Formats: sequence, C-alpha cells, structure tokens
Amino acid sequence: MNIVIVGHVDHGKSTIIGRMLADTDSLPEGKLEQVKENCRRTSRPFEYAFLLDALKDEQSQGITIDSARVFFKTDKRDYIIIDAPGHIEFLKNMISGAARAEAALLVIDAAEGVRENSRRHGYMLAMLGITQVAVLVNKMDLVDYDEKTYRRIVDEYSRFMSEIDITPHCWIPVSGREGDNVASVSARMPWYEEGRTVLGTLDAFEPEEIPANQPFRMPVQDVYKFTGRGDDRRIVAGTVESGALSAGDEVVFYPSGKKTTVKSIEQFNGSTRKSITAGMAAGFTLDEQIYVARGQIAVKSNEPLPSISTRFRASVFWLGRKPFVPRKDYIFKLGTARVVGRLEEITRVLDASTLAAGEKSAIERHDVAECVVKLGKAMAFDTVDVLAPTSRFVIIDDYEITGGGIVREALKDRQAWVRDKVLIRNYRWEASIIPAERRAEKYNQKARLILITGPRSDAKKRLAKELESMLFEDGKIVYYLGIGNVLYGVDADIKGKNNNRSEHIRRLAEVAHILLEAGVLLIVTATDMTQEDLEIIKTAVNPERIETVWFGESITTDIRCDLHLATDGDIEESLRRLKEALQEKGIIFRPW
Ligand code: GTP
Ligand code: MG
Repeated sequence: MNIVIVGHVDHGKSTIIGRMLADTDSLPEGKLEQVKENCRRTSRPFEYAFLLDALKDEQSQGITIDSARVFFKTDKRDYIIIDAPGHIEFLKNMISGAARAEAALLVIDAAEGVRENSRRHGYMLAMLGITQVAVLVNKMDLVDYDEKTYRRIVDEYSRFMSEIDITPHCWIPVSGREGDNVASVSARMPWYEEGRTVLGTLDAFEPEEIPANQPFRMPVQDVYKFTGRGDDRRIVAGTVESGALSAGDEVVFYPSGKKTTVKSIEQFNGSTRKSITAGMAAGFTLDEQIYVARGQIAVKSNEPLPSISTRFRASVFWLGRKPFVPRKDYIFKLGTARVVGRLEEITRVLDASTLAAGEKSAIERHDVAECVVKLGKAMAFDTVDVLAPTSRFVIIDDYEITGGGIVREALKDRQAWVRDKVLIRNYRWEASIIPAERRAEKYNQKARLILITGPRSDAKKRLAKELESMLFEDGKIVYYLGIGNVLYGVDADIKGKNNNRSEHIRRLAEVAHILLEAGVLLIVTATDMTQEDLEIIKTAVNPERIETVWFGESITTDIRCDLHLATDGDIEESLRRLKEALQEKGIIFRPW
C-alpha cells in the first residue's frame, strides 16, 4: 500500500517514520546503535530522522530507502511510505501518475499548531482524491501531553477538513521523538481513549478499490506493428486506467469517435488472456485497420462516454515560478495526449492555506484556482465526479511541469454542433480494408488538406491550380477543389440563405474528409479565412492532416497559419516554398 506523509516543514514527518522503523524492528541489525554512535562522536544530538538518511541506498532485511520512499512491512502487508521532502515533487508525481498514494498521514506540530502548509497539503490531498487521511498531532511531549492543546488543534483542523469535504480516518496524538502512540499505545495520554497508534492506523487503511467495474478507459500510449511479412496488424498499447476490455468488445477511440471491434488481447509477457483490467499495461488488436494514434483514448461503445470538447472548467494548482496567465500558450497533458491550450478565464483563486477566495488576474505559484481552460483541439476526458484518473491533467510551460489539475465540468464550445455530427459520422463510418498508411506508401505521399487563404484575389486560385499541376506532374494524387464546386452542388439546398457560412464550411470539410480518406493531396482556396472557420474544419477533418497557408503580404484575420507566403504575389517563388514545406514535413518525398 502506498502512503504519503505530508505536513508543514519540521513538524516531524521524518522523525515519525524513523521512529516507526526503529520500534517495529525494521532496521538492519546494529543500525540504530551505529547512527547513535555517529552522533555521539560528532557531538550532534541524535535524531530519528537521521535513520532515513543512513538507510539510503542500503538494501537489507527487506527495507530500502530511496530519495523519498521508505519500503517497509508489517505482519499485515507491505508499505511504501512517500516522505515528500517538499510537496512539489510529490504533487508532480501524483498528478502525472508516476506515483499514487492510497492514504495519507498528515502531521501537525502540537506546539506550533496548524500552519499554512498543514492546510495547503490537506487541500491538495482532497484535490488528488486521497480521502483516507489520518491526522497526527505530533510533539505531544513539548506540550506536556496536554489534552486541551490536542483538542484545540483537532477542533481547528477538523473545521478546515469539513470545508474541503474530508472526514479524517482518525486523529492521533503522538510524539515521534519519544515514541508515544507510534508503534505502541502510550501510557502518558490516558485521556486518549481511542488508543490508536500510527502503526495500527496504517494496517486499518482500506486498499484502494481497483476501478475494474467502472467504464473502460485506456489512453493509447503507442501503436505497434507486427513485424511479420504481409502482417498488417497493429497492437494498440497503453495502460488501462479503469474498467475492463475483452476480445469481441466494440471499442471507440476518442476524440475521433472511430469505432471497431477488439480482435485479440495481447500482453507483453506473451500470456494469452481474454480480457484486461484496470492497472494493466497491455494491448489489443482490431478487426479493422482504423487510424489510431497515441493520445487517443479507447472506451467501450456500450459504456458511458467521456466528454469531448476544447473547453472545460477545472481546479488547478500552480507550481511554476512564472504565474499561469491568460493569452499565453501552455501544453496540457491529458492521458497520453499533449495539446496546446490556454487559460481562458480565472473563476476564482483560492489561497489554499486559508481557503479564502480572491480576485486575481493571474494564478501565482502555490495558488489553487478554479478556471476555464481552452484547448487548441478537442480532447476526450472525464469529469472528476465520474472517473478521477481520466480527469487529471498536467500543465507544462517551458518543458517543465508547472501545474496540474482535475476537470470539474466539460463546457460547450462553438464547434459542438459540428462535432456532434462528426462523432456520429465516424461511429457509422465503414472503414476501408486498405489502411491509410498502405495508401500513403503506395501513393508516395501523405493525405493532406492544403488550405490556401488570404485576401480576395485571383492569384490565390492561380497558385492553387499551379500547385495542383506541379504536384500532378511529380506523380502525386492531387486535386484542387474550388469552393464554387461545393457551393452549387453539395450546398444547393442552402445556397443563398443567410448566415450559412458555417454550414458551407462544414460541408466543404466533409467533402475534404472523404478525399483525405481516399489518400488525396487536396488543395482548397478560400478568401479571408478566420480562426473560427478553421476550427470548424479541424473538427470535421483530423487537425494533423491540415496545412494552412496564408498567401498575401500581411495576415488580416485572426487565423494562425502554418505557412505565410508574403511573396508579393510571386507565384514561382510561392510554389517553390510550398513544395519545400511539404517536403520538410514529410508529406511528399524529399530526395536529398
Ligand atoms: P522536513 O522534512 O524538513 O519537512 O521536516 P520533518 O517534518 O521531516 O521534521 P523532522 O522529522 O525532520 O523533525 C524536525 C524537528 O522536530 C527535528 O529537530 C526533530 O527532532 C523534532 N521533532 C520531531 N518529532 C518530535 C517530537 O515528537 N517531539 C519533539 N520534541 N521534537 C520532535
Ligand atoms: Mg523530513
């Protein structure tokens, strides 16, 4: 069982652990004496916390200690105790899934009372969903084992705990230094009728239920190819966050919404299981070769679906030196997906140490806040009340984890009406038996939508046509789709009606989607495209298959383009740069 021990600095976390190791005979033979002797020789007072340092890198009698983890066992079970030196590392690990704790010991110094980090750590435990918490009021020896002092701290802290919806598992007055109520019941506090000890409490914690009977969720870590000749199968691999999956189940991958059936379950140790459940790192093969990539999340079609949106309401905490601010790009890691996103709105900033809400325009280091996040593309996630593991995310700024949070509520975005249609379309889509990568291999190109926009001018269309002809001569499967070709045919029923721009664009995108499925390099021109137009297209067409080009001196809309051709209308030069960009991105072959 994984236990984390938290609390304000110097309140005695390491001492309590050291004491517990000593009193349970978990230490290697002679270790305690050796450390005491060292202290005597260097005339330092002995500290139980030194035991932890002394044990680092030592492995004997089943106890090992690395940077922040203590492994030890009782008659009942094995424990890993995470003694987080600062809460920051621990938080990073917890939120990124590198560490999980099922229960926590929260230490408060009886003499100093409740301090800032006592509250802050309590709040973070609540946010991380660790609700089994034992509160240890330590250093009772310093307050003469006084019941009133103990009760006062219990009163004050339990009021705080109820505000954050945690009911502590128990409260224990202890002295780490003297060993009271650590491994055995102390005779010095007869007024403490519960008679609990730290050790007994560990054994009384309930193991976290493995969420096997919850909806299936597996963020796709990678897609591996079988290496055999002529074997087109792929293994979709990842770690199951919750639920279970068996061969024959219908799976849907989000955010695309593509659906197929599980052909076989594959495990890396070669065992042939019929199903996989929460906590397992495993893989499976599919009946049809639909496009699946890292970052998508696999769910079962007959179970509650995740939310899919570019926007959500979240609780976040911030660890970065630079504050978390609006109008700046950050990377959000949800499951195995990384996506650029922004802080759209700060609803309120809580001072975690007091729980007071304040008005702020930035989320500062160590702040906890409620906010709205807007992602650059739609992602699948759960809300924390439905499934905690897939509600967590990490925020990265400058290659460093600077924050994390949980999704509280999915919010609608402006593309929801398009997405709803696309999800149904993908769900019903009859997949080709020819995988997209076979097509790419055969055609020697990657299917892409090349969207050329810019101010109204004939040059745009000319550029598009010349690009088509150049690529055609190079042997590519390419097609230029003039927007008028869609306007009068596909759009015949809505043509001329007002306010139908979005619907025109959606239909254009649907046509593009079909041609991309066919493996084509599709060139489309449109005048003065905005970011919102692009968002619609990105909802209907896989955003990774879109290349946007602005043709003109200066970009006059809010669109964010992949390539800006400020070539003064020079078609030759523009063609050269376009081709180079396509080659650089590996969309067409580069022969050098
Ligand atoms: P950090 O790791 O720095 O956050 O501190 P910590 O919480 O691990 O505290 P640590 O165990 O290092 O103890 C801090 C100081 O408090 C040390 O000098 C300990 O000797 C002292 N201390 C810890 N527990 C007790 C106790 O029960 N009684 C008394 N009198 N002193 C204690
Ligand atoms: Mg310590």
